[in-house]
Amino acid sequence: MSVIKAALLGFGTVGEGVYTAIHSHQQQLNELLGVRVEIVAVLIRDKNKKRDIESNILVTTDFEEILNIRDLDVVFEAIVGEEPGYTYLKQAIDKGIHVITANKVMFAKYGQELIHKAKQRNVKLAFEATTAGGVPIIRTIQRLLQVNRITKVQGILNGTSNFILTKMRENKLSFEAALHLAQQKGYAEADPTNDISGKDAFCKLMILSQLVFGEQPCWSEVKIEGITSISQQQIEEKEHQGQRYKHIAEIYKEGKLIKASVKPIIVDSNHPLYWIEGVENAIALEASLVGNITLQGPGAGKMPTASAMIEDFAEIVQHQQLQEKIPALQM
Ligand code: NAP
Ligand code: HSE
Repeated sequence: MSVIKAALLGFGTVGEGVYTAIHSHQQQLNELLGVRVEIVAVLIRDKNKKRDIESNILVTTDFEEILNIRDLDVVFEAIVGEEPGYTYLKQAIDKGIHVITANKVMFAKYGQELIHKAKQRNVKLAFEATTAGGVPIIRTIQRLLQVNRITKVQGILNGTSNFILTKMRENKLSFEAALHLAQQKGYAEADPTNDISGKDAFCKLMILSQLVFGEQPCWSEVKIEGITSISQQQIEEKEHQGQRYKHIAEIYKEGKLIKASVKPIIVDSNHPLYWIEGVENAIALEASLVGNITLQGPGAGKMPTASAMIEDFAEIVQHQQLQEKIPALQM
């Protein structure tokens, strides 16, 4: 059986999830793809942290060492922020290495450029995990709604915000206590500012805009509001009126203009997003042929995000096998 060599960039919530998933689902990967996946290297920032990584795996803070690994097939990128992720992915693509990323901050800004570069180098770049955690929204838009014209996207795109609003209402937790719980569960970013300010949902919305409309609105013209101004008292008042606060990102076209917004909205039980609770995300698509479709599922966390990356991985290998680039099918 041939071996696929993979490196993990980042070994936090998501990177560790991918590590676990590759080990726990090695047999499924073997059966599906006819290959064995070997994690050969892990990139981290702090060498002093204790980690449960097999001793034969290179653990390094130096990306050059990873780039220099012979016949490295794929990198899973799960580090934080625009840089160094952008530079590392460019370098990986230049070397002909396939790339799977969860990094939406980087991808919202540089995704198009990286996709273009990957096409030029004939390598695959996958980014399902950037948007809505384990919900296969990217794949659905890219491959299952190719003929439909999507006219509107509306969704809950940040698991942390939805989790906080739910906990403040259901368990009467304070904002701080609910955020702390979201951090403990691995839903929030290391710095949760983007989660609670709406920036994280905005980045995901821009990724969806690019997919659906082939372009993004001017970022500075999009009104972005988070959940920090919503008080416990307001949540309780609305609850008594049969209403809930939901943090909703929306994008649609008005003529040639793309209209986008990211903000809390008060909804009642007639609204489909009223029912989305905890870390769940949901995305409602309005499309020309099928009508309305809503996808729902875990929007953050270790294994749902790892799931998105592993499914991306399987698709890349299958695509390569079709192209007879990976020797597995030639055996
Ligand atoms: P995390 O727990 O903070 O882990 C980040 C990892 O990246 C750590 O292992 C860290 O190294 C490493 N790292 C950070 N900066 C680095 C640098 N400059 N060079 C090398 N390594 C570096 O974050 P996470 O929650 O796993 O998220 C990772 C990425 O996935 C982020 O872009 C996030 O937005 C995205 N994402 C997260 C989720 C989620 O539910 N958590 C879901 C979807 C997407 P050390 O361990 O040495 O500190
Ligand atoms: N911090 C993000 C969230 C992770 O809570 O939605 C998933 O992208």
